[in-house]
Amino acid sequence: MYSRIAGTGHYVPKKVLTNTDLEQMVDTTDEWIKSRSGIERRHIAEADEYTSDLAVQACTAAMEAAAVGPEDIDFIVVGTTTPDLVFPNVGTIIQAKLGIYGCPAFSLEAACSGFIYALSIADKFIGTGQAKCALVVGAETLSRITDWSDRSTCVLFGDGAGAVVLKPDEDAGIISTHLRADGRYKDLLTAKTGVSVQPEGDALSDGFNVQMAGNEIFKVAVKSLESIVEETLDANGIDKSELDWLIPHQANIRIINATAKRLSMPMEKVILTVQDYGNTSAASVPMALDVAVRDGRVKRGQLLLLEAFGGGLTWGSALLRY
Ligand code: ACO
Repeated sequence: MYSRIAGTGHYVPKKVLTNTDLEQMVDTTDEWIKSRSGIERRHIAEADEYTSDLAVQACTAAMEAAAVGPEDIDFIVVGTTTPDLVFPNVGTIIQAKLGIYGCPAFSLEAACSGFIYALSIADKFIGTGQAKCALVVGAETLSRITDWSDRSTCVLFGDGAGAVVLKPDEDAGIISTHLRADGRYKDLLTAKTGVSVQPEGDALSDGFNVQMAGNEIFKVAVKSLESIVEETLDANGIDKSELDWLIPHQANIRIINATAKRLSMPMEKVILTVQDYGNTSAASVPMALDVAVRDGRVKRGQLLLLEAFGGGLTWGSALLRY
């Protein structure tokens, strides 16, 4: 048995922060941000708007698209690095807000690769018959762990959520998923204060915020993504020319360009949201998928390659027929 995406949804908070707004906050320019990252604007959650709230909106849209109700959902997995609380896990908070009771609900942290990791797990549960209707979510409020005085990181991130409903199908569906991690690179992208690791000396907020060696990550990202897309195609005996769409993690237009070039894919076959939403970490891939499904570019039966890369370092891909 395979799993198939039965419906997609996404949501972003109302508040928009443009590059021009950021020019008033840190020493940067619209031109620098656009040329280095491709980002023009991003959405930021209000103080009383939590990751679970964004996720609930995305899940509701995905459930409507799949024509399923709360009573149908029997598995919930959420990729996020910015859960509402230490516990209960944000999966259970989303579950309660959606009026779903009893099914497993949990979150996992794999930074920007969180949705691909979550999709891979849900796919296995559907494939083994242990779940019949899974909600797979990527949701983040990265603005909460952004240092708004650090120009090298604060221009990059945004908030949002994306979700898909997965159901069993005799035909693929999700053809294969590929997950990777290399903890030797853990210090390249980190928020150094957590639960078990407590702040040293300085205020909690200093260590809590994202710190990134952007340039070094850039190089590892391009290499790792090149190798995982090749591995994914080879594993399935598929030629890159057969792909209809590349749906990449939206961290940086230059990383996306490099991956597309490797696949010989023209940019018209790459779904881009980075200009509107910035890097929304685990939310970015399902958000981009939903945007392209709703505007009619991604159609039933088409072959999609999803990929993501993030802190950990973690990376992964999914090949699927939509
Ligand atoms: N405005 C103006 N100048 C800036 C800004 C800014 N916002 N930020 C940095 N600069 C300056 C730097 O200080 C530096 O100046 P210097 O040469 O005088 O020292 C110069 O611009 C160049 O800085 P670089 O860091 O070399 O710029 P680069 O071209 O590498 O672009 C960027 C930076 C956009 C961060 C890029 O490296 C990148 O996107 N990296 C990958 C990010 C990523 O993929 N992260 C993983 C996923 S995120 C996650 O998992 C949560």
